[in-house]
Order: sequence, then C-alpha cells, then structure tokens
Amino acid sequence: MATLLLHLADFDEASWARGFAANLPGHRVVLRGDSYDPAEIDYIFVWKPKPDAFEGLSGLKAVLSLGAGVDALLQHPKLPDKPIVRFVDADLTQRMSDYVLANVLMHHRLFMRFKEDQEARRWVQLYPPAAWETTVGIMGMGVLGQDAVKHLKVFGFPLRSWSRTPKAIEGVEGFAGPGQFDEFLAGTDILVNLLPLTPETTGILNYETFSKLRRNGLDGGPVVINAARGRHQREADIVRALTDGTLRAASLDVFEVEPLPQDSPLWALPNCLITPHIAAASSEKTGVAYFSKVILDHDAGKPLPNVVDVKRGY
Ligand code: NDP
Ligand code: OXD
Repeated sequence: MATLLLHLADFDEASWARGFAANLPGHRVVLRGDSYDPAEIDYIFVWKPKPDAFEGLSGLKAVLSLGAGVDALLQHPKLPDKPIVRFVDADLTQRMSDYVLANVLMHHRLFMRFKEDQEARRWVQLYPPAAWETTVGIMGMGVLGQDAVKHLKVFGFPLRSWSRTPKAIEGVEGFAGPGQFDEFLAGTDILVNLLPLTPETTGILNYETFSKLRRNGLDGGPVVINAARGRHQREADIVRALTDGTLRAASLDVFEVEPLPQDSPLWALPNCLITPHIAAASSEKTGVAYFSKVILDHDAGKPLPNVVDVKRGY
C-alpha cells in the first residue's frame, strides 16, 4: 500500500487529504505537518512546492501535479528525476472552454465598447461583424486548445491554430512553428493564448506580436485573451497597445506577478478585463478521483498517464 504526501498552496490541503483517504482505502495519506518518514513517501501531490518540498523523498515513484501547467514545478531547483503526472481533466477543460467562449463572444459582440458607452450615457448603434467575418486564432492546440475550438466551431467563427508541431483538425487552419507565426497572426482578429510556459513561449504576447494581428476585422482593432500564464505576456506592452489602439481590448486571467500588484496600470484600463487566475481551477472532486486512479493503476503495474516531457518543458 502506498503513502501519499500532499504539498499544496492556495488549496484546502486537509480537505483534499480527506478526499484521497476516502478514495484510497488502506493507503496512507499525510500532510506536511504530520509525523512520517520521508523515505516512505511513494507519491507527492503538489501545487507551488516550497524549496524543501522534495527533501528526503528517497523512495518516490512519481510527482503528481495538481495543475495542468507544470512550468513552476519544472523550475524547482530540487525537482527529483521522477515522472511528473499533470492534471488532464474533463471538468478543468470544460471550465477553460467556458472562459474562452465567454470572452470571445464578449469581444466579438463589442460588449466592452457598449459598456463604455453605457457609462458615458452614449447611444451608438455600432453593429459587430458576423461570426463568419471574425477569425479566432488559438495559440496552443493541446488538450485545452482542441476543446476550445470544438466549442467555438459551433458559433461559426473561422478558426486558426498555432502549435509547435503541425495539427490537422477539421475546420481549423493550422500553423506551426516560428516560421508560420506571422502568417497565423496576420489573419487573426481575436488571439487566444493556451500555450504552456516554456523558454520559447515566455514573453510571446508582446507589442510586436500585437502589431502583426489583423486590423480590419473587428471594429477598433484586434483583441487578446490570455488564459495560460502571466509570463507569456509583457504587461508594459499590453498597456501600451491597449492605450495606443494597437489592441482594441484584452481579457487577462494571468499576470507576470500574482496577485496583480495594486499599482499595476492594467487595473485602470477600461478596455482590459481582469480575472484573478480563475479560468479553470482544478476541482477537488475530479482531482481526487483522477489522481487516486493514477496511484491505484500504477501500483497495479499500469503505466502513468499524461507524463510531462521535461526536456520539451510541457
Ligand atoms: P498541452 O500540453 O496539452 O498543449 C500545449 C500546446 O502548446 C500544444 O499544442 C503544443 O504544441 C503547443 N506548444 C508548446 N510549445 C510551443 C511552442 N514553442 N510554439 C508553439 N506551440 C507550442 O497543454 P494544455 O492544453 O493542457 O494546457 C495549456 C496551458 O494552459 C497550461 O500549460 C497552463 O499553463 C495553462 N492553464 C491555465 C489555467 C488557468 O486557470 N488560467 C488552467 C489550466 C491550464 P504540440 O501540439 O506541437 O506539442
Ligand atoms: C493550472 C492552473 O495550470 O490552474 O492548472 O493554472
């Protein structure tokens, strides 16, 4: 029977532990404050691990990541050389697609503009373009990107994707690699970021990127939606682009520094929608079920699912 150690920040560790204990009868589930021998830990379930998180875990079989994104984990200076299983989950995926869809529709229907008009008591009958005239470009065509395009397709938006390797998805014009990035941007009105954070993708949402987006689609200019990681974006560039009209609007769920500092100019921009990294939280119910199954299956000799490719960075 395995021993599972929980090491979570920003989540109710004790509640997750109770869930695991109920799902893994006969197994031992421990928290950091409990008394246990680190050498007896088989699995560690982590979110934002502290510097000493992995100390003494000499019998570890795998690291289980509460998050779908593993960038912070991969930067841990003492990350053990063990397989990392990331969270891939229908509930999380659906939440992300909800977030993407809600924001794409909001920007396509120019609701931010109408909100500004409302605040100024202005009656301006501005007609948004049809969905078929508004191209949505998604960066990242993995688990989340592929589900998002499924939902967006229903509304009739022309869709394009950008990924590291080429993708053939029906109804989605695929672009891949740095060589096709500009072409991808040139036909995109609403840019959605669902990339993992890696050295190649850090800072990709910058002024130069914004200035390559299509300008004659949406009234007032193109829009950016970032639901992936804050360090994908250069916030000074976003402020500049939202102020000088290079971007009409932005929806940001993630930030270079979280929580977003009080003195960030982003707070005050009327054409920027800020949400506090809530696009797709990991649910305790489905998370406990998923990782309990991972442990039970692995102990029964089955391979670990959704193992991160550490070299690739995601
Ligand atoms: P996946 O690993 O399934 O997909 C990643 C996609 O990005 C793949 O299509 C991959 O290309 C592409 N990609 C990676 N590197 C590059 C690159 N250098 N150039 C172009 N494309 C690249 O990830 P998920 O879809 O599961 O998740 C994506 C990210 O969403 C997570 O890493 C996390 O940061 C973020 N996230 C944010 C949440 C929030 O609440 N805000 C919640 C959950 C996740 P290829 O297909 O060729 O491999
Ligand atoms: C994740 C997140 O990576 O919530 O799962 O950001």
